[in-house]
Amino acid sequence: MDFSKILITLKDEHLYRSRRITESAQDTQIVIDGKSLINFCSNDYLSLANHPLVKEAFKQGVDQYGAGSGASHLVSGHSKAHHDLEGALAEYTRQGRALLFSTGYTANLGIFSALKGELNWVLQDKLNHASLIDANHLIELPLQRYLHNNIESLEKKIAKQSGQGMIVTDTVFSMDGDQAKINELEKIAKKSDAFLMQDDAHGFGVFKPNIPKNSIYMATLGKAAGTMGAFVAGNEDFIEFLIQKSRPYIYTTAISPALCVATLKSLELIKQGEQKSKLLANIDFFRNFSTALDLPIENSNSAIQPLIVGASEKALSASKKLFDAGFYVSAIRPPTVPKDTARLRITLSANHTQGQIEQLLMQVKDAIQ
Ligand SMILES: Cc1ncc(COP(=O)(O)O)c(C=O)c1O
Repeated sequence: MDFSKILITLKDEHLYRSRRITESAQDTQIVIDGKSLINFCSNDYLSLANHPLVKEAFKQGVDQYGAGSGASHLVSGHSKAHHDLEGALAEYTRQGRALLFSTGYTANLGIFSALKGELNWVLQDKLNHASLIDANHLIELPLQRYLHNNIESLEKKIAKQSGQGMIVTDTVFSMDGDQAKINELEKIAKKSDAFLMQDDAHGFGVFKPNIPKNSIYMATLGKAAGTMGAFVAGNEDFIEFLIQKSRPYIYTTAISPALCVATLKSLELIKQGEQKSKLLANIDFFRNFSTALDLPIENSNSAIQPLIVGASEKALSASKKLFDAGFYVSAIRPPTVPKDTARLRITLSANHTQGQIEQLLMQVKDAIQ
C-alpha cells in the first residue's frame, strides 16, 4: 500500500490535516511557535481549563490520589473522586445516576455497544458527530439518517421501521452551533416507543440540560467543563446495564482521579454561573457586531459560530490570514463537514474581551473577501 500517494492526494485536495504545537496553557491567549495569538478555536467555552480554582483542585487531587487511576473501574480504578463526581453529575442533570467514561468518543461507542442486540433500528440526524456514526457501525445496524433537524423527515423514516428503535441527535451541533428540537423529538420518541439519545458535548455547562424522562444523555467534560472525560446520565437501571454490558466502559483504564477532583470544581463554577453569563454576553456581542459588519453568520446562539466560505482552499487561506494577523481560527473542511461547506469555525469563550471579538471580526471581514 502506497501511503505517500494517499498523503499527496490529500494535499492536492486541500484536505491534509496538520497539528500546531501550543506552548502555553489552553486559554483565550495562547502561544504557538513563540507567537502569541488570540485563540478562537478552543472548546474551553467557560474558560475553565486554566481557571485558578480548577487548577488548584487538580493539584489537590494529585496530592490525594496520585497521577493515574491504575486500573479500570471494575477492577481497582474506581476511586471516591470518580464516585463523587458521578453523584454530582447525576444531581446536576437531575437523573437517577451518571457514569463516567474516558472521552465522549468512547461514551458514544459505549452506549451503542451495550445496546447491540437490543435495537432493531437507529435514526440519526444527518449532522451528528463522527463518534455517533462510528458507534452505529459497531452494532451491525444500517446507518440511517434523517435530514438535519427536520422532524418531517424523521417521521417519514420512522414510518418504515419496526421493532425497538433509537433516535439519536447532537444537542448543539458541533460544526454549526444550532440546537436540536429536543421537545419535539421527545414527542416522536414517545409515539414510536423509541429511545431518545442526545449528545450534549457542546451544550453542557452552557445551556440548562433538557433531558426527557427515560432518555439517554451523554455529555463531555473536555469542553465547557475544561478538563477531560465524559459521562452518561439516565435512570438507574440503564446506568447499571451500561456497567454490565458496555465494552468501551469495561475494558479501559479509568481517567485520573485528580481530573475528577478538578471537574467537581468546574461543576461548582458552572452552577455558580458567572463564567456562563460572560460567555452568553460574548455570544450576543459577536452576533450583533457580525450583523453590523454584514458577515454571513449562521443561525446559532451557542459558543460555536461558523462562517461558511464554501471551498476548502478558501477556508484554509482565510485561516492562514487570520493566523498571520494574530488570531487562531480553525478551517473545517470535508469530510468533517459536507462538501462545499468548508468554514471558519469560530468558538467563543467566557474570557474573551469584546475588544478581541471586535478585532477578530474586522480581520475576518478582510480575510473572507
Ligand atoms: C458532538 C460531539 N460528541 C462527542 C465528541 C467526542 O468527545 P471527546 O472529545 O470527549 O472524545 C465530540 C468532540 O468533539 C463532539 O463534538
